[in-house]
Amino acid sequence: MAPSGASLAGLMTKEVMPSDGPVLELGPGTGAFTRALLSRGVDEADLTLVESGPDFARLLQRRYPRARVLCLDAARLGRDPLFAEPIVGAAVSGLPLLSMSPRKTMGILSGTFAYLRPGGALYQFTYGWHCPVPRAILDRLGLRAERIGRTFNNLPPASVYRITKPWPLGDERTDIGSVSPPASDPSREGGLIPGTGFGGMQGS
Ligand SMILES: C[S@@+](CC[C@H](N)C(=O)[O-])C[C@H]1O[C@@H](n2cnc3c(N)ncnc32)[C@H](O)[C@@H]1O
Repeated sequence: MAPSGASLAGLMTKEVMPSDGPVLELGPGTGAFTRALLSRGVDEADLTLVESGPDFARLLQRRYPRARVLCLDAARLGRDPLFAEPIVGAAVSGLPLLSMSPRKTMGILSGTFAYLRPGGALYQFTYGWHCPVPRAILDRLGLRAERIGRTFNNLPPASVYRITKPWPLGDERTDIGSVSPPASDPSREGGLIPGTGFGGMQGS
C-alpha cells in the first residue's frame, strides 16, 4: 500500500494543535502523518511514534531524532507504560484496523484511551464506508466515533473518524477551552518513562 497522500494527512491532522502535545502516532510507516503533524506546529519532541516494523522504526528515528520512536505492537500499548498519566492530547492512527482481530483492536483502543487526557481524541482513517472500530468495542469502552471528513484526493479515497470518550462536562474538544491548561508542560517532565525509546527496540 502506498503511503497516504497530503490530502488524507491534512484531514487526519486538521484538528490537532501544538497544545495537544504530547501526541501519539500509531503505525506511522514512513511518516506521512508525522510530517503533517509537524507542519501543524506540533513539536517533534512531543511526538511518540509507535511502529511495529523495525525498518520503518529505524527510518523514523533517523528522520525525527527528537521524537520518541518505539518499535512496538500497538496492541501492547496498555502493557508497556508509555506515559505515567493520561496526558496525551491527540492520537493519530494509520493502523490497518479492518485487517485486525477484535481482540487486537480492543487492546489498541483501550491502551490509547488510557493515555488520552479528557477531551483528547483518536483520529483513525479507513478506506471503508463505516468506522473501522466495531460498534461492540466502541460501546464496551464507552467511546463515540464521528466521521470528520472524506477525501477523494487519495488513492483509494478515505474517511477519517474522530473517536472520543464522552466525559461528564459534555464531551470532547469543544469543551477543551473550559479546562485549565497544566501549569507546566507535562510532556517534558515526569510523563515520559525513560528507557522505553527506540534503543530498547524489541527483537533488535
Ligand atoms: C497502512 S500503513 C500506514 C502508514 C502511514 N501512516 C500512512 O498512512 O502512510 C500501516 C502502518 O502500521 C504499521 N503497523 C501495522 N500493525 C501495527 C501494530 N500492531 N502496531 C504498530 N504498528 C503497526 C505498519 O508497519 C505500517 O507502517
